[in-house]
Amino acid sequence: MKKIYGIIGDPVAHSLSPVMHNAAFEKLGMDAVYLAFRVSKSELEDAIRGAKSLGISGLNVTIPLKEKALSFVDAEEVAKKIGAINTIDFSSGTPVGYNTDGIGSLRVLKETTGEIKGKNVLILGAGGAAKAISFYLDTEGAKVTIANRTKERAAQLASNLRNADFIGLGAELKKHINASDILINATSVGMHPNENATLVSADMMHPDLVVFDIVYNPMETKLLNEAKRAGVKKIVDGVKMLVYQGAASFKIWTKEEPPIKAMEKAVRDAMIRDY
Ligand code: ATR
Repeated sequence: MKKIYGIIGDPVAHSLSPVMHNAAFEKLGMDAVYLAFRVSKSELEDAIRGAKSLGISGLNVTIPLKEKALSFVDAEEVAKKIGAINTIDFSSGTPVGYNTDGIGSLRVLKETTGEIKGKNVLILGAGGAAKAISFYLDTEGAKVTIANRTKERAAQLASNLRNADFIGLGAELKKHINASDILINATSVGMHPNENATLVSADMMHPDLVVFDIVYNPMETKLLNEAKRAGVKKIVDGVKMLVYQGAASFKIWTKEEPPIKAMEKAVRDAMIRDY
C-alpha cells in the first residue's frame, strides 16, 4: 500500500518539503506520497493522534507547532534539550519525535569548512532555529556567541550551552564578527517580503568568514549579497539546510539513503519557478 508522509504547520501552503520529498520518492521508485496539512495549534494533538490512527508513516512539523508537538510524542533526548521537534516517526506504533534542524546545519557547515571544533561561531538569533543549531555546534566543540535583538533571550540560550557567550545587536556586533570564523543568520530577517533587510552589512565582514543564512526565500538574501560585496569566499544559502534537515528526516522514516542531489534540484527548480 502507498505510504503517506506529510508536513503539518500553519501556514504550510508554500512549504517546499512536498516537492523535495516527492522528488526523493520518485528518484528511489518508492510507492509513497508527501502532502502538506494545515494544522492549527489547537488541533495539534488531534492531528498527531489522527495521523497515527490513519497509518501515516511520518510527519514533519513546522511553524508554529515545533515546541508544542514535543508534548505529544516520545522525543529523543536531543530534541528534549532543544525544546522542539521537526520530525515524527510512526513506524514503531507510538509517535517518536526528532529534531533534524541542527543536524542539517551541522552537515552544511562541516561540508563547507571541515572541522567545527575550536571554531568561533557567531549566531544571529535566539529562537527555535538558533537553539537547534547552537546545540549541535556547542556539542561539536565550537565556541558559540549568540547575538540577539532581545539580549535576555540570548543570555538564556547561552546559559543552556556548554561553552557559549552572548551579546546584543549593538556596536559590539562588528567586533565579534571580526573575531569569528563562521557567521550564521538564524533569524527571519531578510525573508520575503522583507528582502532588503539584513542585520549585518558588508563593512562588518571579512573575506575569511563563512557566511550561512538559514533563510531560503529568496535564495540570495541581502546578507549573502553583502557577504559577496565584502569578498567572502564561502557563502551558504538556506536551501542547503532545508535539504539536509529533510534528508535526515527521510532517513529516519525510510531507512533509505536520501537522494540529496535530486532533492536539492527539486527545491531550487521550484524556487525559480514559483517564487
Ligand atoms: P524561530 O523558531 O523560527 O527561530 P522565533 O522563535 O520567533 O522563530 O525567533 C525569531 C528570531 O529572529 C528571534 O531571535 C528574533 O529576535 P527577538 O528574540 O529579539 O524577537 C529574531 N528577529 C526577528 N525579527 C527580527 C528583527 N527585525 N530584528 C532583529 N531580530 C529579529
